[in-house]
Amino acid sequence: MSALRILLYRSDGETAQWQTAFRAALPDAQVSTWIDGDAACDYAVIWAPPAELLARLQQVKAIFLMGAGVDAMLKFGDALPPAPIIRLGDAGMGMQMAQYVTHAVLRTFRRFDEYDRQTRLGVWKPLPAHDKQDFTVGVLGLGQLGQAVIDALRPFGFPLRGWSRTAKTIDGVDCFEDLDAFLRGTRVLVCLLPLTPETDTLLDHARLSLLAPGGVVINVARGAHIDDAALLALIRSGHLAGATLDVFRDEPLPPDHAFWGEPRVTITPHVSALTLVPEAVGQIAAKMQALARGETVADIVDRTRGY
Ligand code: NDP
Ligand code: OXD
Repeated sequence: MSALRILLYRSDGETAQWQTAFRAALPDAQVSTWIDGDAACDYAVIWAPPAELLARLQQVKAIFLMGAGVDAMLKFGDALPPAPIIRLGDAGMGMQMAQYVTHAVLRTFRRFDEYDRQTRLGVWKPLPAHDKQDFTVGVLGLGQLGQAVIDALRPFGFPLRGWSRTAKTIDGVDCFEDLDAFLRGTRVLVCLLPLTPETDTLLDHARLSLLAPGGVVINVARGAHIDDAALLALIRSGHLAGATLDVFRDEPLPPDHAFWGEPRVTITPHVSALTLVPEAVGQIAAKMQALARGETVADIVDRTRGY
């Protein structure tokens, strides 16, 4: 049997660690990085590919993504190769999302954001404790990462609610189908939706206005879920207390974007759940072996659904 050919590509060019990890996981495979030109391979493992590469992957058996989100891939529409597209399923991201979101929720609940501002002003002033019953946390998207976040928040006793495309029953979580009803009464909104035509700019002024007064927004999914101007206006009017944003319409966030100048907005550079190369390669290599045995694998992207 001829050696498995694996082709790697990342838009940032950082494939060395992937190459080493694949060579260790699948010693008999031929692993190379696409620069340009020939892209003959059995499996492509890629992130944010150019159209030119996709055009050369028409014969590939499967395309593995080096991340969990699929929007940067599905945007190619009819130009996509016919092979199954397989995204990362958790691969260590659930734990990272749980850490990031729990930190952001506790930061506002325990008023560290306000104490940070007081510190900068040299103010010593104990603030009253918030009541956790006033801190309903609503998670948009109850998939692999949304459910990891819910599990991490459960021990703190906040009322929890969630919203997904299909109806769900989750222990200790009020699951909604009606988005407006979900938003009304949510104090901390966590966005973990995939970016699809249905979820693009879902969080506009009208919907963000439904959040409870003093609400905060934690966006760890994609920047395009949110109308930036609406979010800023609601923070500046005092209806919302602030936001923790990891993702943006344009990344890096442009230097002149108004978010930089707003002290109630905390910005991180798309790091809430990093791809951990050893976990990712372990998962992808196991899926390649399963496919070779003729088995099906998890996390195949549904192109019609958009995620
Ligand atoms: P999943 O596919 O496992 O879950 C997606 C969830 O969103 C599902 O519950 C799904 O509903 C729900 N959903 C999808 N479309 C709609 C809709 N139109 N209306 C309501 N609910 C909807 O994804 P993951 O949890 O693995 O990842 C979520 C997103 O997180 C990724 O798509 C990616 O964009 C982002 N991400 C960000 C990272 C970062 O570092 N900032 C890192 C990794 C991912 P249902 O359950 O009914 O299918
Ligand atoms: C991902 C991401 O989707 O890095 O994996 O955002």
